[in-house]
Amino acid sequence: MAATLLPTLSPAVSRAAAAFLLLRRGPAKSLPSTLRHFVASVSSSSPATPSPAIRPPSTVASSSTVARATHARRDLLMLGIETSCDDTAAAVVRGDGEILSQVVSSQADLLARYGGVAPKMAEEAHALVIDQVVQKALDDAKLSGSDLSAVAVTVGPGLSLCLRVGVHKARQVAKSFGLPIVGVHHMEAHALVSRLVNKDLDFPFLALLISGGHNLLVLAHSLGQYVQLGTTIDDAIGEAYDKTARWLGLDMRKGGGPALEELALDGDPDAVKFRVPMRQHKDCNFSYAGLKTQVRLAIESKNLSTDDIPISSASEEDRQSRANIAASFQRVAVLHLEERCQRAVEWALKIEPSIKYFVVSGGVASNKYVRTRLNQVAENNRLQLVSPPPSLCTDNGVMIAWTGIEHFIAGRFEDPPAADEPDDTQYELRPRWPLGEEYSEGRSVARSLKTARVHPSLTSMIQGSLQK
Ligand code: KG4
Ligand code: ZN
Repeated sequence: MAATLLPTLSPAVSRAAAAFLLLRRGPAKSLPSTLRHFVASVSSSSPATPSPAIRPPSTVASSSTVARATHARRDLLMLGIETSCDDTAAAVVRGDGEILSQVVSSQADLLARYGGVAPKMAEEAHALVIDQVVQKALDDAKLSGSDLSAVAVTVGPGLSLCLRVGVHKARQVAKSFGLPIVGVHHMEAHALVSRLVNKDLDFPFLALLISGGHNLLVLAHSLGQYVQLGTTIDDAIGEAYDKTARWLGLDMRKGGGPALEELALDGDPDAVKFRVPMRQHKDCNFSYAGLKTQVRLAIESKNLSTDDIPISSASEEDRQSRANIAASFQRVAVLHLEERCQRAVEWALKIEPSIKYFVVSGGVASNKYVRTRLNQVAENNRLQLVSPPPSLCTDNGVMIAWTGIEHFIAGRFEDPPAADEPDDTQYELRPRWPLGEEYSEGRSVARSLKTARVHPSLTSMIQGSLQK
């Protein structure tokens, strides 16, 4: 039997499920009554849930609804689970953004030993620690499963084998305690966690999401509605950092990106003249494969024995050469980001002149040089940079819990699994799941907005009344 974990970007279906849950069966027992009422009214304003018991759509929240909802947000307790790649993470977050616990178990040692993520091995590593990670998240929050309101879990994009471990655990918890489930998009979570960090950050905003597998520039219109301005045509910047770090013989146990950032501090960023990618392409896409090749050639041309001599045993002169390559790589890798972001700001402001914020998130956004340079891009364009603290930039459970909260409040979640759901149920995952519709300059985005399935009055009502 196949169970479908409704992705949060199918709101009409999810809302129908929510209304079904609330009107037919009654809400999960752990929903506080204020929240129950609030979610019920949000769900019922959806045009996708035709039922005589449902109130007509409303675009303005009454003051008593707002008061109830504000109070209700604090009562909402969301467990977030993340296993899409090489970190096993869980967290408990309150509806108002208070982080009650955050646990991350990293596979950095495995990565260092095997030179990358091997899906089968990563799956086993997740499976080995998932129970402990989730239990510790509950213990640290001083809660038990029965205190939770719902469970959020990454359903894509990512490695199927790895995603499955998290989804299986989420459904187990949800089944045991009769909790609704929210399926979360990993990259949307990287973007939305910035709204937990900065409560003034309203839609629309521009976001650059940079990680090991993705390089995305998106215009975030509203919850679940994204227009993709640019993506990578080959590798993501995190992959380029990781490979360069490995080729330079760095200690991968602290992660390729952080190790390279540290070494680059001692190097001359102008020592090696790498070409900036894609300058002839007047769009917002990225490419890092060519830069990786340039780095490889630079290492070979300098006859550095990086394969057999780790940096810790290198001569002073050799170390300096490696530091120069690291700094030169970083300068050009980030200059490529800056140039594409500058163009994306111009495109985004043409589409949405009201944009005030530029969000930079994902693992690579924890890099200080990246943050400084992109802050300059933001300031040059009179935008405010919002970049979460490093622990919320790299993969974590908080961003999943928070995105779960945002969607849950919009009424997008699904029923708790049936009590008799077999343990070996196959779930529908989303290993390849694009975030947003593609945009190319000159084409109107009106179409993408019209076809989007989010009820605009619904999201603006919730954002307007609750984010204050
Ligand atoms: O978002 P993330 O934690 O996982 C994925 O979704 O891929 O991003 C991981 C990527 C890795 O490539 C890692 O090397 C990179 O983020 N990263 C960094 C830094 N910290 C993590 N890259 C550059 N500088 C850093 N300080
Ligand atoms: Zn990530």
